[in-house]
Order: sequence, then C-alpha cells, then structure tokens
Amino acid sequence: MVLKRKRKREYYKELKIVRGAFDERTLLVLYRLLNKNKMSAESLIKEGKESIILSGLTNKKWVAIKVYCTKACNFKNMSKYLVGDPRFQRIKKKRRFIVNLWCQREFKNLKIARNAGVDCPEPLFFEENVLIMDFIGNNGLAAPRLIDVKPDKPEEIYKKVLSNLKKLVENGLIHGDLSAYNILLHKKPYFIDFSHGVTLKNPLAPELLKRDIKNINYYFSKFDITVKDTEKLYKKLERVIREKVIK
Ligand SMILES: Nc1ncnc2c1ncn2[C@@H]1O[C@H](COP(=O)(O)OP(=O)(O)O)[C@@H](O)[C@H]1O
Ligand SMILES: [Mg+2]
Repeated sequence: MVLKRKRKREYYKELKIVRGAFDERTLLVLYRLLNKNKMSAESLIKEGKESIILSGLTNKKWVAIKVYCTKACNFKNMSKYLVGDPRFQRIKKKRRFIVNLWCQREFKNLKIARNAGVDCPEPLFFEENVLIMDFIGNNGLAAPRLIDVKPDKPEEIYKKVLSNLKKLVENGLIHGDLSAYNILLHKKPYFIDFSHGVTLKNPLAPELLKRDIKNINYYFSKFDITVKDTEKLYKKLERVIREKVIK
C-alpha cells in the first residue's frame, strides 16, 4: 500500500475532516476503500469512544463510513466479546487485529440482520477497520436516535422494534447492545451498531438478549403504552435460542 507522495498529499487534504483522529494505516485503508468504490468522505457525523462515523457520497447516494479506532478503543471489553464467538477462534492479543475483527463482525452481523429482513443499514464494503454501509437519514443528515426524540406513535415503533428483535433471534443473532441509543428513527426504527452482536451458540447470548429486552422495555415504558412483560418476552425468545442451539 505505497502511495505516491503527491497523491498522498492530495488525499490528506481531502480528508482534513478527520486528520489527527486516525493513524497512518487507517488513513491509507480509508483512502484505498474510497478510491476503489468511487466514493468521497464528506463530513463528520459522530465521534465515539470506539468509532468515528463519517458521511460519504457515491453517485449521489449517501453512505455511512464507520472507522473503528485503533487508538483509544476499549480494547479489553472488545476482546471479551470475541472470545466466546466460535466464528473467531484464533485471537491474537494484538490491538489492530482485534479492532479489524470487530469491524468484520459488524459487517457479518449486519448481513445476517438484513437477510433476516431486519430494518438496518445494508453493509456495503469493509476493509481492515473501515466499514461502509447505507446511510440512514436525508441528504447527509443522519436520522435521530430513538433516545433523542419523542416518537409520535410509540406503540407502533415498539411493535416494529420487537418484530425486528424477534426476526434477529430467529435468524441466529443477538444484537447485544440494543437500546434507544442504537436505534435510528427514520420513519421506522432502524437497528444500528451491530459490533457486539453474537450468534446463539455464544455463551453470552441469553444474558445479552435479556439486557436488550430490558433496555427496549425501559425506554418504551416512559410512554403511555402497554409494554410486554420483560421476563415473559425473554422466556419466549430464549426458547428460540435453546431450540436452535440444540438442533
Ligand atoms: N448507517 C448510518 N447512517 C446514519 N448515521 C449513522 C449510521 N451508523 C451510525 N450513524 C451515526 O453514528 C452514531 C454512532 O454510530 P454507532 O454505530 O452507534 O457507533 P458507536 O460504536 O460509536 O456507538 C449513531 O448514533 C448515528 O448518529
Ligand atoms: Mg452506538
């Protein structure tokens, strides 16, 4: 991945929105991925502890570019989630390697979720620690998170969230970090941030499912609607896990 000096300079100019936030290798991966797919990075959407989200453009279509930070990420926490995942056995304790796995996992999980008919961004490409997916929002303006809005029809949104959750479990995946912070409201609720997602065989699956249900019920119980009993809902979905894992 050697870039001619001039091209590199131009590219740094182009990516001035993120200069300083990424290490050299991340910048090169980003550059390569954007170039290969004829995309441009447009603006900073959100800077989190573990990732930075940019908006991007390709053929007048907006995309979201999620860059996993190799510097300040919560490394210990990340490896904990990956250790129990049978899909990722050979884990070296190397920060960059783990961060790349984290990215790969979000890509795979988003694919599973999309194939299951869950409302979530379509994952488009990934390379190392950079993931590109559909943009949820309008003209480069990201849709609000559920936590930031007061939905007009909370009952309807709640039903859709539960239906997405059920589809996920029935198709072998637990989101693992589901809450009003990781759902965008763009006419309907869209699940995002699948990097904590685990398959049903993961020993953490039941515990994470319970937490997901609790978080969702906690948010919707603030509205004047009937919220399903957390324990009953959990038991129902946990049965799906058991049946699937035994099969
Ligand atoms: N596909 C997307 N389309 C639009 N905005 C997005 C998309 N993915 C993430 N975002 C924005 O970036 C924020 C952080 O993304 P998220 O995947 O939750 O990362 P983190 O791990 O930092 O929580 C979201 O709350 C949302 O505002
Ligand atoms: Mg998030």
